[in-house]
Amino acid sequence: MRKPIIAGNWKMNKTAAEAVALINELKPLVLKSKPEVVICVPYTALWAAKDAIAGSKIKLGAENVAWADSGAFTGEISADMLIEAGVEFVIIGHSERRQYFGETDESVNMRLKQALKKGLKPIVCVGETLTEREKNKTKRVLKKQILDGFKDIAAEDFDNIVIAYEPVWAIGTGKTATAEDANKTIGYIRSLIKKTFGAEVAKNLRIQYGGSMKPSNAKELMAMRNIDGGLIGGAALKAGDFAAIVNYKD
Ligand code: 13P
Repeated sequence: MRKPIIAGNWKMNKTAAEAVALINELKPLVLKSKPEVVICVPYTALWAAKDAIAGSKIKLGAENVAWADSGAFTGEISADMLIEAGVEFVIIGHSERRQYFGETDESVNMRLKQALKKGLKPIVCVGETLTEREKNKTKRVLKKQILDGFKDIAAEDFDNIVIAYEPVWAIGTGKTATAEDANKTIGYIRSLIKKTFGAEVAKNLRIQYGGSMKPSNAKELMAMRNIDGGLIGGAALKAGDFAAIVNYKD
């Protein structure tokens, strides 16, 4: 059985003080959560969030990590810096990084290797754009993202990896993939993983859905056989909404 994992991606929202306020509101609402709960917060809020989540089951994540240990990489952040700030999970290859900041499958692969080397748990994002979907290229795009993004990754590394399938057209748009559609596409991702890394890896790998996931559709999405969690953007910024997604079973 794969343990569900609900992760919030706060993106570029919340100062440290605002982060603490949100976490304090969230903590009592997710005390008995059955899924694993992660919040991925901006770098400047990490230290404050580390203290604020103490005594709860909430785990801390970051939104990116550099591929190098240290050095002349202005604006980047190293795995050691994140680990010192209490980070356990890290998002890699989010579509906004790919779209606005030149992230490629190759750089995703380099960041992924570094995260694994340092013992961080990567949440690797894949997903097609609207144009790619309309041109029937979804499978081709996902295949490239998976094969190149996970190049030279060992089967045993997948124990610590989560994949997030986020169709780009569903992010922040209010449009959600139908549960059946998301399940089917995630099933395709699982079959690719099976072919490349083996049946055992594919069976145990947790794959999240992301894109306008909210309290009203969480239950339906989470009921799908292939969907093991959610990567939540907008709804993660409201304690009540995020908690309702975490507690989708209640
Ligand atoms: P929304 O939930 O705001 O659509 O964002 C999804 C996302 O990009 C999570 O990483």
